[in-house]
Amino acid sequence: MALYHLIYQSQATVPFDTPALAALLHQSRLFNHRHHMSGLLLHTPDDRFLQLLEGEEADVRSLYYQHILPDPRHQHCEVLGEGPCLQRSFADWNMGFRVALATDLHILLQEAARTEYAADGSRPAVSPALLRQLLNFVGRNTGAARYYSEE
Ligand SMILES: Cc1cc2nc3c(=O)[nH]c(=O)nc-3n(C[C@H](O)[C@H](O)[C@H](O)COP(=O)(O)O)c2cc1C
Repeated sequence: MALYHLIYQSQATVPFDTPALAALLHQSRLFNHRHHMSGLLLHTPDDRFLQLLEGEEADVRSLYYQHILPDPRHQHCEVLGEGPCLQRSFADWNMGFRVALATDLHILLQEAARTEYAADGSRPAVSPALLRQLLNFVGRNTGAARYYSEE
């Protein structure tokens, strides 16, 4: 099975309060579990998202390009990286969740911006440094996580 991952950022068009986030996570985890997908969703108080999706290439690309991208609840979707990967970074979570501050997101996006585009202009791969930062961030910020936990 060819593993694939994709990371993007977006801006919500509707306010995502606690019940809306809980409903989104519930729906996402059911679907992702059924399709053997894992990943992480970050949400900031100013309603921005950063999401990493991991799974079979066709599943990841179909979920993002056919369902998440056209979802009217967010806009300005920007893929920060996508491509094959050797292993999952968030294998234990069908969709992990963390609240991030705007400054946290800024730091992560600076890391993502260091990724070079390929000469043919194709999308950059997911930066290993960005993945490391995400894993560090998740390890450091366990506060609100319990409420939204999928365990
Ligand atoms: C920020 C964001 C992240 C989402 N992540 C997922 C996800 O990981 N899995 C999922 O099944 N749906 C996710 N969704 C919901 C999908 O966009 C979409 O509503 C769902 O796949 C149903 O698709 P449909 O409306 O085309 O039937 C997400 C939506 C948003 C706004």
